[in-house]
Order: sequence, then structure tokens, then C-alpha cells
Amino acid sequence: MYYKNFDLKKHHFSREELAEILCNNDEDLYKTADTIRKQYKGESVHLRGLIEYTNVCKNNCLYCGIRRDNKKIERYRLTDDEVISCVKNTVKAGFGTVVLQGGEDAFYDTDKMCSLIKKIKKYDVALTLSIGEKTYEEYKAYKQAGADRYLIRIETTDKDLYKKMHPDMSFENRIECLYNIKELGFETGTGCLVGLPNQTVESLADDILFFKELNADMIGIGPFIPHPETPLSDSNKDNFDMALRVMSLTRILMPDINIPATTAMESIRENGRAIALNSGANVVMPNMTEMQYRPKYELYPNKICVNDSPNKCIGCIKNKILSIGRTISTTKGFRQDKK
Ligand code: SAM
Ligand code: FES
Repeated sequence: MYYKNFDLKKHHFSREELAEILCNNDEDLYKTADTIRKQYKGESVHLRGLIEYTNVCKNNCLYCGIRRDNKKIERYRLTDDEVISCVKNTVKAGFGTVVLQGGEDAFYDTDKMCSLIKKIKKYDVALTLSIGEKTYEEYKAYKQAGADRYLIRIETTDKDLYKKMHPDMSFENRIECLYNIKELGFETGTGCLVGLPNQTVESLADDILFFKELNADMIGIGPFIPHPETPLSDSNKDNFDMALRVMSLTRILMPDINIPATTAMESIRENGRAIALNSGANVVMPNMTEMQYRPKYELYPNKICVNDSPNKCIGCIKNKILSIGRTISTTKGFRQDKK
């Protein structure tokens, strides 16, 4: 069955239909996702300032450049004052959200994390945390301290593949974290990596159905990019088109959620973020981390903006957005925000 026989506007597909659509590189898929994005989310793009505050991680994810066993990178942590300086730059740039992201770093116990959250929330921004797996009590404390959103990708819903990619981690715990976050009232973000070794289109279809079942508020789809200092250094490099298809299908199935044009997309394809914005995405996350730390947060090679300053990134992304006829949001960009 060829996908054009399907009604793309019905916002629902079976696993088999999704897998079949993913096998075809058809412009109509991207155009349909773009039309649905326009209808439900309008022309404005939400900017979220990304602060990479620690590259210390206890985990050893096979694909990740800052995994525990990569001894070639110098580890760092930002001081609270350094984080706040990035927050001030984010506010000054007019962005409505700060995304605090890092490895799973035990240095930040609940007290330290909550203290940092409270300091950030003195500024007029929404706060997204992307700091990995925690207990229910820890998530609850972060929520009470003022965090608004939490982002933790499922990475893959293929249980066997998940186990291979994440030694010492549990698939069941990852799922539980996501449902805990949702229950605690965070806007919940998840997503997947596209192009992992032995990942099938059927499992990508399952990923999309999982996003819908969870009723996630934001979905980040990243093409997997092999890092030379990881066990997956020899894997397939160009996963852009498949990632774009997963993203466009996610928009079609979940018309009102927030979907970023991811940094990884631009890192493997020139203008990758503009292409994504024209294929269903409505969010961009410019890097607000200071220059001296950027090369040390190398999740994958050729990551964009590694040698640029936050100010250069702000100017560059705003121009790109305006040049494709879109506008820049002035709201905090919650799921229900229309602009
Ligand atoms: N520790 C947090 C967590 O587990 O959610 C957040 C940090 S983690 C570095 C952020 C994301 O980077 C992961 O969810 C993963 O999908 C992505 N990532 C890591 N290595 C990558 C690679 N080689 N290519 C593309 N994306 C990668
Ligand atoms: Fe921990 Fe990648 S392995 S952030």
C-alpha cells in the first residue's frame, strides 16, 4: 500500500501505515506537516536558550560523546553564577525559556538543584530541565522549586535495542520517569534518536505511537551522529531524511505540540533547522553556553556553533527564522500558547 492512499489529515495511523510512510521519501509528507503546523501553531517560532551546565555523567550510553568512558574530554561544571549569567543573556535576547541540560551528575543533589532552580526562576522565564533519570521525590522537589518542564528522551522504544545502547540502565525505569514527570504536572518532553544500529522502521513507528500514548507536550527528534570516541564510531552517518520523516509524522499525529528543529539536524545538513521548520517544527534551541565550555559538550562531531559566542548564535538564528518568513514568539511557548 502506497502512503498517498492514506488520509494524512486524520491524525492517526497504524504501526504498519507509519512504517510504510517512513520508507518513502515524499515531499508531500513534509508539506502536510507544514500545513498542520501552520494551522495549529501559527507562524511564530519559540526560542529556548540552552545552557549546557555540566558534562559529567555517570551513564555510558553507547552513542554519546560525553559518556562516562570517554576519557578524552575534560569535564566541567558551571558555577551557579555562570548559569545565572547565561540566564540573563537569554532574557536579554527576549527568549521565553531556559533549558538547563547536562549529564547525570551526582554533584547536584536535590538541595543544590532546587537552589539553582529557584535562582533561575527569579527571572521571567519558563524553565525546562533536561538532567536525566531521577526519583519521583526528586522530580517532585524540582517541580515545587519552580521548574516548569522536563525533557527526557525515550531514545528508542525497542526494548532490546534500548538495553544494548544503555548499559546499566533500565527501559522500565525510563518509562516510569516519563509517567512520573507527567503525573507531577511538568510539561513533558521526550523524543528519540533516529539511525541507531539495527533500529527498524517498525520500531520508529512504535516510538511515534508511544509519544501519542504518553500525550507528550514536546517531542525532539535527533538524527544519531556517530562520535569517534564511542563504541558506535563506525555507524551510518546520514540519518537526516529519516529523522525528518519521523518528525513530520509526529506533527501530523500530534498537531498542537511543540517540536524543535534540533541542533543535530543542522549539524549534518546545511540549513537543517530551516528545513525542519518547514516540515513541521516550531521551536529552536539556540546554545547560550559560554564559548569556553562548548567544545567540551561534544555529544557528536561537527556540532554547530561550537566556536561561536551566544550573541552570534542569537543573531544568526533570528535572521534564519525571519528569512523563511516566520516570526519570533514573544510568549513563553507553552503547548497551549497560540503565539
Ligand atoms: N542526561 C540527559 C538525559 O539523559 O536526558 C540529557 C543530556 S543528553 C546528552 C541529551 C540528548 O543528546 C540525548 O537525549 C540524546 O538523544 C542526544 N545525543 C547524545 N549523543 C548523541 C549522538 N551521538 N547523536 C545525536 N544525538 C545524541
Ligand atoms: Fe550521559 Fe550522554 S551518557 S549525557
